[in-house]
Amino acid sequence: MTVMVFGADGYIGWALSVKLAKELDEEIIGVDNLVTRRLVEEVGGTSALPIGMPEERVRAYEETYGRKNLKIIVGDLTDPDLVDRLIEKYKPHTVYHLAQQRSAPYSMIDRDHAIYTQVNNVLTNLNLIFAVKKHSPKTHIIKMGTMGEYGTPPYTIEEGWMTVKYRGKRYRIMVPRDPGSWYHISKVFDTYNIMFANKIWGIRATDVQQGVVYGSRTDDLINDGLNTRLDFDGVWGTVINKYFAQVIAFNKLLIYGTGLMKRSFLSLQDSIDCLFLLGQKPADEGEYRVVNQMEEVYSTLELAKKVRRLVSKYGFDPEFVRIPDPRIEKQRHKYRVVHRKLRKLGFRPKYTMDKVMETIFSDMLAHEDVIKAHADAIWPRVYWDRLNEEGKTTYLKALNARMINNSKAYTEGL
Ligand SMILES: NC(=O)c1ccc[n+]([C@@H]2O[C@H](COP(=O)([O-])OP(=O)(O)OC[C@H]3O[C@@H](n4cnc5c(N)ncnc54)[C@H](O)[C@@H]3O)[C@@H](O)[C@H]2O)c1
Repeated sequence: MTVMVFGADGYIGWALSVKLAKELDEEIIGVDNLVTRRLVEEVGGTSALPIGMPEERVRAYEETYGRKNLKIIVGDLTDPDLVDRLIEKYKPHTVYHLAQQRSAPYSMIDRDHAIYTQVNNVLTNLNLIFAVKKHSPKTHIIKMGTMGEYGTPPYTIEEGWMTVKYRGKRYRIMVPRDPGSWYHISKVFDTYNIMFANKIWGIRATDVQQGVVYGSRTDDLINDGLNTRLDFDGVWGTVINKYFAQVIAFNKLLIYGTGLMKRSFLSLQDSIDCLFLLGQKPADEGEYRVVNQMEEVYSTLELAKKVRRLVSKYGFDPEFVRIPDPRIEKQRHKYRVVHRKLRKLGFRPKYTMDKVMETIFSDMLAHEDVIKAHADAIWPRVYWDRLNEEGKTTYLKALNARMINNSKAYTEGL
């Protein structure tokens, strides 16, 4: 029996692969072309925690857990023949598909980055759908979507479908998508492609819409050889990691716009526990299932305040600096999400942000030298609405520094 993890070298994919291999008496085959490593370097970043090459990571797993059921194949999943061969050979009962370009700012750099993102993400997904249809039609595809597909609508975000009243009649419709970047649009394409494959061929799939994932460890990643990547630069880092990096490198916290924009969050442990559970309790044959997963909602300003409280224990006293929001997004909005299906399947979240934040910060502080050596990459550099002469939205460090120095520090009242 085989489970495949597409994107096994990534932040979530590696942690998930270790959990699956450790818990299941099955063969776990990961596939990854290692592109995230290269794209993070392209913008001057790196993983804060050191990570080995795939063979070193697999060896670390084998030595730690005394098992030999995990393998990582290096290959590009945009290659349809490769995906065909893999699915034909292994006939996995489950494929977790996480192999995508997942940075919204990266997709917004310029035309080429937008095209790369959409081509990469749509192709990997379509290749998988077609290979499953041809070689292993009962395979359960567990596809990582994102809460960002829905955007921040004024209504409550249901799980997949909602009932609306229109011209006096009631209809059950798919929850509308309102993506906020070329990256998020690629995820919407995926959702439609999977749903359509289910409609015409009965492809069995679970579409998992997760919020922003935070955390530097899971219960299984118990030594440095098992580290998962942790990005902190302005393009690839998620908000908490970026805040900690700003504190460590500059003793500042950059507040975008009003800081009132809300996002949903969940811990890395809860992310992979949910994915694991969905594999154990698969969608029925012929079913297309959508689950929302998020545990907490915070505005970016609330998070910055949490960060400031925490780092003060370590002697930091970061200044809040307001800068124009690089993104085009609603500055004030409601945010309510329904997330019941996982609970019904027996899922119980394990960690809250307050429990995990300190570990992330101490892990990052332990690699302060890495963060300071990549300090230039921490500034936000990609602006949704501004192109320079080369047609890129990438701003130079000097411009950032000028803008940040000229911004009004607004510690008062926060
Ligand atoms: N990290 C989050 O907060 C978050 C939240 C919601 C959803 N997601 C989704 O979860 C998935 C994984 O995210 P992550 O944070 O682990 O990202 P990641 O970049 O760390 O991992 C993705 C992995 O896929 C690989 N990959 C990309 N394109 C590939 C290709 N063509 N062929 C083979 N491998 C390829 C990359 O090399 C990388 O190792 C993504 O689909 C992302 O959209 C992430």
